[in-house]
Amino acid sequence: MTELLEKLDAYKKEIDAVTAENEKQVEEFRIKYLGTKGLVKSIMGEMKNVAPERKKEAGQILNEFKQFVETKYETLKAASTNSEHTASSIDLSLPADDFPIGSRHPVALMRNRIVSIFQRLGFAVAEGPEIEDDWHNFGALNLPAHHPARDMQDTFYVQTNPDWVLRTHTSSVQIREMEKGKLPIRMLMPGRVYRNETVSARSHCFFHQVEGLYIDENVSFADLKQTLYFFVKEMYGKDVKVRFRPSYFPFTEPSAEMDVTCFICGGDGCNICKKTGWVEILGCGMVHPNVLSNCNIDPNKYTGFAFGMGIERPAMLKYGVKDLRLFSENDVRFLKQFTGAI
Ligand code: PHE
Repeated sequence: MTELLEKLDAYKKEIDAVTAENEKQVEEFRIKYLGTKGLVKSIMGEMKNVAPERKKEAGQILNEFKQFVETKYETLKAASTNSEHTASSIDLSLPADDFPIGSRHPVALMRNRIVSIFQRLGFAVAEGPEIEDDWHNFGALNLPAHHPARDMQDTFYVQTNPDWVLRTHTSSVQIREMEKGKLPIRMLMPGRVYRNETVSARSHCFFHQVEGLYIDENVSFADLKQTLYFFVKEMYGKDVKVRFRPSYFPFTEPSAEMDVTCFICGGDGCNICKKTGWVEILGCGMVHPNVLSNCNIDPNKYTGFAFGMGIERPAMLKYGVKDLRLFSENDVRFLKQFTGAI
């Protein structure tokens, strides 16, 4: 046993001192020490000469030795591959590899801009399903059964279940938030919506919206106006003018549409604003009491406002995109133009 230990010590010293310049020498090391006729194998063979009561101890010692050789082999191997690269094949004067940078989609860029402005006012983001039931997309929003917006012309129904639709607006997420019963609510609902419209340069069967909802005690139309004024100034600049036109949405009362002075011609009249000097950017209003009751919110205690805007149109105007279809065709030549934009 002592003899064996001495022998192993000597081998360890020898192996420790081994160096390898290249892969060939590493392989020679492997064959000499770890190969089928190598040193480790033959030493293992000496186990049979060890007295039975010491076999366990000897086994451990031999295993440690084997591991020691294997570790040495791995070290040599790693060192030789590294040195081959650093020493010979890398030209440190070459310029660094190019890392291709991806680009954000222009609709995502515009959505982020809109969302970040409202986030500064304390609005949080909420999301919901794109396949909705009739109640969340229509019923709870005070859309009576005969309302034209429920017409098959505008809405995609899920064939296997007529109670399901592809949501036509993200107002459905407003209902889901109100149903949670946690007040006050100050939420933004960005997302994709679907309408059965002929695809052309100016309309598409799906597009994106950001809607907003603010519900608390004593929320008034003045709050709505101030919030949207702030948004418009941040989004389109200090000089832009705003006007509200009375409008109708089943889920808000009173309802309005908001126009801003055309940010292309500054109000003088151009093709974008159809010579009117104004561009419509969103719909809004005070949440209808029926909608609040539908969500178990007491309309005598709470009031709120809601608004909704499309994302594609401002994105088209900002980035000079002339055809809505470009947003969904995934043409890399188009998308690449937004590299680095934030
Ligand atoms: N849901 C409306 C639409 O899709 C937008 C809107 C939201 C209008 C909230 C008023 C209040 O057209």
